[in-house]
Amino acid sequence: MRYTSEQQRTFYLQSLALLDPADPIQQLSDQSRMDLLKSLIVYHEWRYYIRHDPVISDFEYDQLYKQLERLEDQYPQWVGTDSPTRRVSADLGSDFPEVPHLSPMLSLANSYDETDLREFDQQVRKFAGLTGDDPLAYTVEPKFDGGSIALVYENDLLVRAATRGNGERGEDITHNARVLRSLPLRAAFSEYGIAKVELRGEVLIRKDIFEKINASRAEEGLSLFANARNTASGGLRMKDPRDLEKRGLEAFIYQMAYTADAAGNELQLFETHDERIALLGKLGFKIPEQERKVCRDIAEATRFCLDWQEKRDTYPYEIDGMVLKVNELSIQQRIGSTSHHPRWAIAFKFRAKQATTRLLDVAYQVGKIGSITPVAKVTPVQLAGVTISSISLHNEDFIRQKDLHKGDTILVERAGDVIPYIVKAMPELRDGSEQPIVFPRECPINDSDTPVLLVRAEGEAAWRCPNCVCGAQDLQRIIFHVSKDAMDIDGMGKSIVERFYELGWIRSIADIYRLDYENIAQLEGFGEKSANNLRQAIDKAKENPIHRLLHSLSIHHLGKKVSRILAARIGHVLELRNWSPEDFTDIKDIGPIVAENVRAYFQQPEHIELLQTMESLGVNLTRKEEDILPEPAASGPLLGKTILFTGTLQELDRKAAQQMAQQAGAKVLSAVSANLNILVAGEKAGSKLTKARELGTVQILSEAEFLAIIKAQNPSAEPDESY
Ligand code: IVH
Repeated sequence: MRYTSEQQRTFYLQSLALLDPADPIQQLSDQSRMDLLKSLIVYHEWRYYIRHDPVISDFEYDQLYKQLERLEDQYPQWVGTDSPTRRVSADLGSDFPEVPHLSPMLSLANSYDETDLREFDQQVRKFAGLTGDDPLAYTVEPKFDGGSIALVYENDLLVRAATRGNGERGEDITHNARVLRSLPLRAAFSEYGIAKVELRGEVLIRKDIFEKINASRAEEGLSLFANARNTASGGLRMKDPRDLEKRGLEAFIYQMAYTADAAGNELQLFETHDERIALLGKLGFKIPEQERKVCRDIAEATRFCLDWQEKRDTYPYEIDGMVLKVNELSIQQRIGSTSHHPRWAIAFKFRAKQATTRLLDVAYQVGKIGSITPVAKVTPVQLAGVTISSISLHNEDFIRQKDLHKGDTILVERAGDVIPYIVKAMPELRDGSEQPIVFPRECPINDSDTPVLLVRAEGEAAWRCPNCVCGAQDLQRIIFHVSKDAMDIDGMGKSIVERFYELGWIRSIADIYRLDYENIAQLEGFGEKSANNLRQAIDKAKENPIHRLLHSLSIHHLGKKVSRILAARIGHVLELRNWSPEDFTDIKDIGPIVAENVRAYFQQPEHIELLQTMESLGVNLTRKEEDILPEPAASGPLLGKTILFTGTLQELDRKAAQQMAQQAGAKVLSAVSANLNILVAGEKAGSKLTKARELGTVQILSEAEFLAIIKAQNPSAEPDESY
């Protein structure tokens, strides 16, 4: 190990201190600060490039790097040849022979917002001698987050592949590159007069393949890969290409760095970067396509970046930003590079999805069926634009698997969804004061004098409180009952339920339907109007179809799907009182556990009484037409797709079209979003069509095309008249 764990801890804490304007470390003299920054950056580069296991986020690293660059501008006399800004990155590993690159493999400067990009544009103009009015186009493409690769083709054959290494020299990984199916072993460069060419690209693993690999590793009891980037860049450096082949890696090419003719003279091919990339596409390389755009000016480029920031999760590969490149090659040449990065390109980094923070304490929450969920309280930290201060720890096993301790430094991430997640603890940063997390065996919420032992059912990860006497479960059930997924009572969120609960106004879900609106109108922050709105929302919920009501009862394992199946088979909710165990299990799709839970629920007199009370308060318990809707298809030409109809349809009415789409396996959405796959546009389609076109990822169909897809599968398809 190049660094002791004590050194690593100190480096980590010093890095954070330098990023904290309130820390006393800010009083360091500029010269000492430069020395410190150099050592810290070299350390973080070692963690990143050699260990593939960084302890700070890319964003934090960039901030340190920028601090050093700024000081070096101010004090060029102290820069020294050993500064990390004077070479491209830290040392190489030593597993493979080193090879020199034909031209240095530089890094990119980073930007984070519109202002940074505008400044970049001004810098480019200044260096290129352009005025503010001269046209200046940029090609914008994804910043792929994998392992970089440099490829040399000679006389049309792939002769060498190397990692980036220190930018001057990389590791020879030709044997590995040859198994990447997306890299042609032969490409017709000679048709363009090119005898020798060096290409740059990034090796990646598709996100879904990464997840599959990890799932099967978990099944085999192997350790999991931390993320897609490490799986790809680690894969490139594997000894046996057959192991690499199993990882299903792919290479995107984003640059033609050097081209020479047969006499060895450097060639000037094409006028723009975009044309060069398009040529590579033609020659059989994988290149960014609809995710690459030539933008007229910096404003359009910025919009394209911001757009992709929003939809980055829909992209099948990990990307951590976009790269803007001056499209005109003559301008690129005119303005050149620093020793670190080209002046004609910049990375626009997406909001950080990872950060480090400290796990301070653990709180416990009880769910609607009594599950005890541990929640980590952490030092507040910014993650993808949101401040995070608590993160679910899921269950006891999670805490154990991740070996989490109170006081640990942890790496947190907001991945595909918005929920933050603890990637790992960093045991090398412990100082001995950390405390193990002891999962309680008694209900931690219970506030009575008699302890309640928790239970853990076989095969389940959660500990549950079987008999919580403190009402915490009731509260959670009420919160769930009013939620969007259940009765969907508009305007009655968690905080209002908690407030009414504290006031003693609601103790069970039935109490929601006998609230005193005059009292509510008197509450601070309410008034007549809000009380009235709430009344209307609750009155509307009373009329809900019974599948919603069944789901809203918080019966363990009873989800939306089985609620619908049951609702379609009963005339009135209380009929379930008379169902035998077989009545449930005879239905395909109803498993024994949920069958038993529902049966047991309807055997309890207090539950029957609760439902009767609700009925007497006006809540609908009788099956409605919506309860007999067809269930989503399990197959069909649109299976797994999301679809939206807009404009006036000629042949079908909107409802019938939606129903046909559902029967073909699609999910019908009500608005254009990044999740939308298909938009069927009828006549006079308006803003939804424009928005879908702008997204660029939505398939747009006419009504006739939609019908053709449905009929190809099922020639007799007709909208169901009973609907
Ligand atoms: S161009 C001379 N384009 O980002 C400019 N780089 O931080 C060279 N990267 O090591 C880079 N996607 O591996 C360029 N579309 C893209 C890229 C890209 C990912 C990587 C590249 C480089 C790193 C720079």
